[in-house]
Amino acid sequence: MTSPMMLATKTLAEEILDLRQERRAILLAHHYQEPEIQELADWVGDSLELARKAREFDGDVIAFCGVWFMAETAKVLNPNRIVVVPDREASCSLVESCPVEPIRAYRRMHPDHVIVSYVNTSIEVKAESDILCTSRNAVQVVNSVPKDKTILFLPDQNLGNYVKKQTGRENMKIWQGTCVVHATFPTRRLIEKLTEHPSAKIVAHPECPQGVLDMADFVGSTSALIDWCVASTAREFIVMTESGVNYSLHKLAPEKKFYFVANENCNCSECPYMRLNTLEKLRDALLNLDPRVELSEDVMRRARVPLERMLAVK
Ligand code: 13P
Ligand code: SF4
Repeated sequence: MTSPMMLATKTLAEEILDLRQERRAILLAHHYQEPEIQELADWVGDSLELARKAREFDGDVIAFCGVWFMAETAKVLNPNRIVVVPDREASCSLVESCPVEPIRAYRRMHPDHVIVSYVNTSIEVKAESDILCTSRNAVQVVNSVPKDKTILFLPDQNLGNYVKKQTGRENMKIWQGTCVVHATFPTRRLIEKLTEHPSAKIVAHPECPQGVLDMADFVGSTSALIDWCVASTAREFIVMTESGVNYSLHKLAPEKKFYFVANENCNCSECPYMRLNTLEKLRDALLNLDPRVELSEDVMRRARVPLERMLAVK
């Protein structure tokens, strides 16, 4: 028999949903979050979609289930909201690869160059940038820069090389940062996977190495990959990105088969930063309104300019 005590016990998910209502909060989750977090989220998306959702939210609290730079972006775009994250340590290897001091020095040495930064950067680097981009709009953003202007593209070398190829732009210097997840997908393992599933289509995030991108039927942002697989007439796909996308792929196309490839780094396809977030930490963040994004007015004002420029690019 169920005791009254047990009846009164709320599940973690119920606690989170109650807190969401009390706090007038929105739960935003990136596709690389644990399935149970995506299940509860008001919106699951790629970094560009989540930035837009954060900007238009008119409640009190944005609970950002992703990595820290995404939460900082949300704060800059909607500074009057409280922005909390489940785990303050959820960083990104691309952010770590690109400290602000060398970017400031580059700016001083080349005041006429245009700094195009991927959103996977610290807020300080964003504040030094002329325009930002995500994996979804990087080609359009680079094309929006006048052709005679030299570009410094940072920090992801694989995305930079991909964009350089797509745009045919020669005057583009590329920072040498990499993603610990995507850059360590070996082409050899992709070939093995294709041998096992010869009729599968290959989709890849542009942070993957050139050898992987050369084999791909489609290259795009996290959400673009999902949309392409859902719309395709193919039945099987090898998905060269973080395996958290499996949640939406299965939900939207349950009849199709999706295969993932393990990388050299963790022998898995999970982002060690994204996966720091848990339901417990999300509950605590909503309860304590901490860890909370707090940024100086000055850095927000300077980072907002390149962010808004990016959002204005069609
Ligand atoms: P998206 O812009 O596709 O969401 O990618 C963000 C990211 O961190 C990829 O590793
Ligand atoms: Fe950063 Fe790579 Fe993780 Fe994306 S998957 S958040 S680029 S470390």
